Amino acid sequence: MMSTHESLHVPVLLNTSEGESVLEYLKPKPGDRVLDATEGLGGHSEAFLRAIGPTGKLVGIDADEENLLKAKERLKGWKQQCTFVHDNFRHVSRLNFSEFDIIFADLGMSSLHVDDAQRGFSFRADAPLDLRFDRSKGMTASQLLHAASEEELVRIFKVYGELPQARRCASAIFREARQHSVSLDTTVGLRQLVEKLFGFRAKFLLPQIFQALRIAVNDEMGALEEFLASIPALIAPNGSIGIISFHSLEDRRVKEAFRAWTTPEKDPRTGAIAKQSPFELLTRKVVVPSEEEIRRNPRARSARFRAVRRREITA
Ligand SMILES: C[S@@+](CC[C@H](N)C(=O)[O-])C[C@H]1O[C@@H](n2cnc3c(N)ncnc32)[C@H](O)[C@@H]1O
Repeated sequence: MMSTHESLHVPVLLNTSEGESVLEYLKPKPGDRVLDATEGLGGHSEAFLRAIGPTGKLVGIDADEENLLKAKERLKGWKQQCTFVHDNFRHVSRLNFSEFDIIFADLGMSSLHVDDAQRGFSFRADAPLDLRFDRSKGMTASQLLHAASEEELVRIFKVYGELPQARRCASAIFREARQHSVSLDTTVGLRQLVEKLFGFRAKFLLPQIFQALRIAVNDEMGALEEFLASIPALIAPNGSIGIISFHSLEDRRVKEAFRAWTTPEKDPRTGAIAKQSPFELLTRKVVVPSEEEIRRNPRARSARFRAVRRREITA
């Protein structure tokens, strides 16, 4: 039977009977120290805790305090081994942790964000247009729409929303926001504006517009960038790093970082390897969910998983 938590957020790429699992790549073992940088509802953490046993330790970070409290409740049977931190993973190097054997992140939003109408992540439910993971700080999406320049909005829609008509869409929304002819304080206000401007095409544009605003409001690319710069110093020799992303931009950034960490230094004259790379690639090809997993959990559809292992000695 499904528990309440599983019915709220189904962890992706975790069930081996349906396809590949992050555990096959990261191989948690008894006594390991794990950092779950996106605790969410604790689904992946629970799987790690089962594998690392009573001598293992887990640190769970989440920018969303409400999710973190739910994960804490779910994982209370392991509370002696867990430390939960309400923070953005971009600050991981400031948190004074020593080394980890596994560092894992499952980027983006949880299904609870979408299901909780009050959070403003869904254009289907009427709510304040918020979209922040961490409601204790930063600008809401509504404030961003009123504060951004037209060019900023074009960039946000083009880059984060991959909207084919980014300029048209951004300019129209920008004009309306300035003229205050419609309210952009709520999800429904924005939805009605997009419907007024784009008619039947609104239903294709709205998911991309909401995605673009979410990525901008939470500075998701900036956070990922700082996280990627911090984690090589936090992983123990032989330790593994795995990241699930849901957007091509994020996946590209993870792929580039992993490529840089796994490329040996070559002698410019001879082309011979002068220095071994500090990491080796664990996922030769990006890992994606099986059709069976997507059928059961459509939100897994765009998941992409990549992993690397730190070499024992990098001389
Ligand atoms: C896809 S969910 C994780 C789900 C989790 N693996 C599970 O099985 O329940 C992503 C979580 O990461 C959090 N998050 C996203 N970006 C973050 C960041 N920069 N720092 C900390 N937490 C972040 C979100 O609040 C959300 O709870």
